[in-house]
Amino acid sequence: MNDPSTTKLDKTAAEAGRATMEPALLRLLEMAHEAAQRAYAPYSGFRVGAAIRLTNGAIVTGVNVENASYGLTICAERSALVRAVSQFGPEMRVEAVAIANLNAAPSPPCGACRQVLAEFTEPEAVIIFPAADGPRAVPFHELLPLAFEIKAK
Ligand code: THU
Repeated sequence: MNDPSTTKLDKTAAEAGRATMEPALLRLLEMAHEAAQRAYAPYSGFRVGAAIRLTNGAIVTGVNVENASYGLTICAERSALVRAVSQFGPEMRVEAVAIANLNAAPSPPCGACRQVLAEFTEPEAVIIFPAADGPRAVPFHELLPLAFEIKAK
């Protein structure tokens, strides 16, 4: 891991990932990174930011907010999502999500966040997250096939 040649390779891959990303998504990733600086993570030290772009063009950010009870912690992705619903109402739809952390570690969205995102996210929405070799972009349906659904009464 600390082999300088590997570090260099990783850096190059990360740069390549960014270089091929369309400017609007790159900006979304920057916003996620900026947001991560406002994370409240005194217990894990793992600071995460998420930026969600809605189909109406609005961008909403969120951060992880930890709690002394640990289990009440909310992830950055869900904190952005609940903020988006609060601001724009339940008809809002997610077309892109960017996730960043300040810990130089991979952080794909956790399973709980995927299930919560599924409620509001287009299957083709692009989700960008830090992978081992730099930012990785995947369509939402690849992150969570077979999401649990129930028809509302
Ligand atoms: N975390 C997120 O904010 N998003 C994820 O998808 C995974 C984990 C946060 C929760 C906790 O505050 C810290 O990262 C360590 O798990």
